[in-house]
Formats: sequence, structure tokens, C-alpha cells
Amino acid sequence: MSRTVYLLNGPNLNLLGKREPHIYGHETLADVEAQCRTLAAELDFSIEFRQSNVEFQIIDWIHEARENAAAIVINPGAFTHTSIAIMDALNARKCPVFEVHISNVHQRESFRHHSYVSLAATGVMAGFGTHGYSLALRHVAQLLGKGAANASGINKDRQGFRVMKEAAETT
Ligand code: DQA
Repeated sequence: MSRTVYLLNGPNLNLLGKREPHIYGHETLADVEAQCRTLAAELDFSIEFRQSNVEFQIIDWIHEARENAAAIVINPGAFTHTSIAIMDALNARKCPVFEVHISNVHQRESFRHHSYVSLAATGVMAGFGTHGYSLALRHVAQLLGKGAANASGINKDRQGFRVMKEAAETT
């Protein structure tokens, strides 16, 4: 029975709060992690909250999540727009994947409009500020149901909601 959600953050997100605050706001990644931990405790699941500036590290964490996670919430930073390798790793997962962007990438430079990660994601959230992480977690909680999730029963069908509900009902 997995009730662990992996929250993965890509490059430069360690500078959240200091980096371009007019775009990304003043909260730090530690603030976001603290909020996610509080919410996860309320919603009755555990989280693995991680950040790396290194592509292979993120891929290794996605592989780890493949075995352990009920869901992946990922803000891949600029790797969103460049990394076929992260997309491939996500396509090999067994659980739903939610892509989060703090900013509304579609309102920004054209190179940010394309996301390799979206090709693998169950859902995408952009432009909700750091609140996007909490919204994604709440959505995951709704998918899992209280205490009813079993990651091993979830396949990687794009319709994460239906598949996960079925998995929850049959366990
Ligand atoms: C970002 C958007 C990306 O385009 C950018 O490279 C980031 C952050 C966001 O959260 O809005 O690093 O993923």
C-alpha cells in the first residue's frame, strides 16, 4: 500500500524566493516543502520532496518513484522544454504524473510553450504560483481516497482518475 507522493523539482528551483521574484514570488522552496508537508499530513499521505539541478538525478528519482510512489508531482524547471530523457522516464512510470509550473509558461517566451513532460503527464498546472503544488496534492488525495490507495493496482493509463479509483475499489 503506497501513500507516498514524490514531489520533484528541477534546476534553479533551489533559488526560489531569490530568483526573479516578480515571476516566481518570494516564497522559498523550503517554504513550499513545509506547506506540502503540513498538507500531506492532513491528507494522510507521506511525501518525498526533492530538488536537483542535475538531469540524471531527476531521472533516477523518477525510477525510484516507479517502485514506491502513488503519484508524482513534478516541476521540471527548464528541463520541461528540453528533456526527452525525463519524458521517457515518466512514460515508464506506473502512477499518475502531475506537472506543475509556478508561472504561466504559456504567457511567456515561445520556447516555454512546448513541454516534453506534458506528453507524459496525466495533468498540468501552470500559473497558480506556489499554490500549484498544494492544488496538485489535493487532487492526488481525491484520486487516492482516504486510506484506500494501492499503487501496485494502478497502471499508467492516461486516465489516472478512473484507473486509480478502480484500483482503490478492488483493494
Ligand atoms: C518553471 C517554468 C520554466 O519555464 C522555468 O524554466 C523554470 C520554472 C515554473 O515553475 O514556472 O525554471 O517550471
